[in-house]
Amino acid sequence: MAAAVHRAAHQILEQGSIFADPLALRILGQDAETVARNAQEHPSGRRMRIFIAVRTRFAEEALAAAVGRGVSQLVVLGAGLDTYAYRSPMRDRLRIFEVDHPATQAWKQQRLEDAAVAIPDSVTFVPIDFERHTLAEGLASAGFDPDQQTFFTWLGVVPYLTEEAVWSTLGFIASLPGGAHVVFDYSDSPASFSLEARISHERRADQVAKLGEAWVSYFEADALRTKLMALGFSEVEDLGPPQIAARYFPNRVVALPDKGGHILRATTI
Ligand SMILES: C[S@@+](CC[C@H](N)C(=O)[O-])C[C@H]1O[C@@H](n2cnc3c(N)ncnc32)[C@H](O)[C@@H]1O
Repeated sequence: MAAAVHRAAHQILEQGSIFADPLALRILGQDAETVARNAQEHPSGRRMRIFIAVRTRFAEEALAAAVGRGVSQLVVLGAGLDTYAYRSPMRDRLRIFEVDHPATQAWKQQRLEDAAVAIPDSVTFVPIDFERHTLAEGLASAGFDPDQQTFFTWLGVVPYLTEEAVWSTLGFIASLPGGAHVVFDYSDSPASFSLEARISHERRADQVAKLGEAWVSYFEADALRTKLMALGFSEVEDLGPPQIAARYFPNRVVALPDKGGHILRATTI
């Protein structure tokens, strides 16, 4: 819900300038004034809102490029209220599997129904708890074809999973015979943050822990890249805060911290 609120607020407060999503507000079921007022009352949420807009744009740009190179399946891991499957011009060229925790997925299906958003025939819902079942089991039972080139988006999920669950999923993706691409976001360890950033991070981490969804996994960029290559990924593109600023906000004058949220693309092809 929080990620979806940020996407909707971005449409209103920044006019979707980084990432345009015509369904963001509709799937939320809230009016624009309420969303805008709540976001303006919590200005500390702006950084997360912009990061969520950036990560979604990065993922969808990488997906568009990969479809041009033969991707025919999309797996949206931990889909939440992501709306790609319901608005993309490429949705008819892709078989789309939305994988999520059963509780979240049931809630999303209700939200889609309430918002009268049509579910295309190309979409298959795959309910899985990543901590209890493997992605391989869930996708196999949903008709996923491992021999087709596949793109995985995994946005806003890795920090909530144990490292074991993260590597199990990445190992599965790397092993697919048809070839695969994955985009996910992660955070540097808070120990590497400035004092101010660490305090703000800890405040937010306490909030999500109280909601029963604690952040448990952090990664160090060089070690992560080495391990991804060892798993079988042949190309890794990892944007940390400085690279995100250079790519998406080249005219920005205020310096961003070196450490924080990353968005990463890796491919086995
Ligand atoms: C912050 S939301 C991100 C949702 C969406 N990708 C987005 O960007 O809006 C985290 C997602 O991870 C999913 N998730 C967290 N833990 C999970 C688990 N153990 N198994 C399956 N999904 C999980 C939640 O259900 C939720 O959809």
